[in-house]
Amino acid sequence: MVNTQKFIDTAIARIQKDAGDGKVVMALSGGVDSSVCAALAARAIGDRLVPIYVDTGLMRKGETDRIRTLFGDMNLHIVDAADEFFAVLEGVTDPEEKRKAIGERFIRVFEREAQRTGATHLLQGTIYPDRIESEGGIKSHHNVGGMPLHMEFASVIEPLEDLYKDEVREVAGALGLPAEIQHRMPFPGPGLAVRVIGEVTREKVEMVREANAIVEEYLVEEFLPWQCFAALVGQGTGVKGDVRLHGWIVAVRAVFSRDGMTADPLLLPYDVLTSMASKITSEIPGVARVVYDVTPKPPATIEYE
Ligand code: XMP
Repeated sequence: MVNTQKFIDTAIARIQKDAGDGKVVMALSGGVDSSVCAALAARAIGDRLVPIYVDTGLMRKGETDRIRTLFGDMNLHIVDAADEFFAVLEGVTDPEEKRKAIGERFIRVFEREAQRTGATHLLQGTIYPDRIESEGGIKSHHNVGGMPLHMEFASVIEPLEDLYKDEVREVAGALGLPAEIQHRMPFPGPGLAVRVIGEVTREKVEMVREANAIVEEYLVEEFLPWQCFAALVGQGTGVKGDVRLHGWIVAVRAVFSRDGMTADPLLLPYDVLTSMASKITSEIPGVARVVYDVTPKPPATIEYE
């Protein structure tokens, strides 16, 4: 980043120009991108910013409470949309269809909220790698390629569209956002849905949510990965309490990266891996097996879908 302060001034001016006299709705997920967007927009247009947190039912454990605590004083509106997200995901197994279904649902929720609040513009925390990967046809990031064309907004404002993640973190620091937000691991827009291979159900999401929480507890503070998480990758035979079961297989992924475009797996100590695996299988009844993914990106992506 050449000049963080100059970026901030330019972004604020641009938001003011694009928004005109209108109200601007945005999805605040609590990640660094959307938090930086919210902070810039709050400076630019004050209470004409309408931040919404959409509880898709696909978020990490404890996330909604965390958001309430962090942004409660920002006039944040929390929308419980889990039922409608699970409804559109029913029977969908193709990864691209899943992403599109989620992206479209997000936009419908925003449109509804925009109507309710009289907002005319949409603000999004799209960053440069999101655009590159969507344009390159690798996958639809929910906040870009998955967006239906018939949107009812006068404009879509994307102040971070030319920044890499580490640059967004610099801006977060300069804006005085809490360190917890500035250094937070990226979390994909479609949430835990891309960490369940195949059809997404409430039951599978519950399992993967618990597994993610255990992985974060073991790895985040001690190993400072760019990202670490668990995914539900299939089923296999297991034996628990003398009973054979067709149990779920959890894959653990922990990577270093600069910008998400390439990534390398962490070389984790064996005792950490075995202890984490044991906790996952003992605390989550349906899980019979845990594997550690040692594939770099490329050829694998970071997420599973
Ligand atoms: P992949 O799986 O493509 O992920 O190697 C690269 C980085 O992007 C995150 N990711 C997303 N972020 N919307 C987002 O905002 C999405 O649809 C999305 N899909 C993946 C992923 O977690 C990783 O950090």
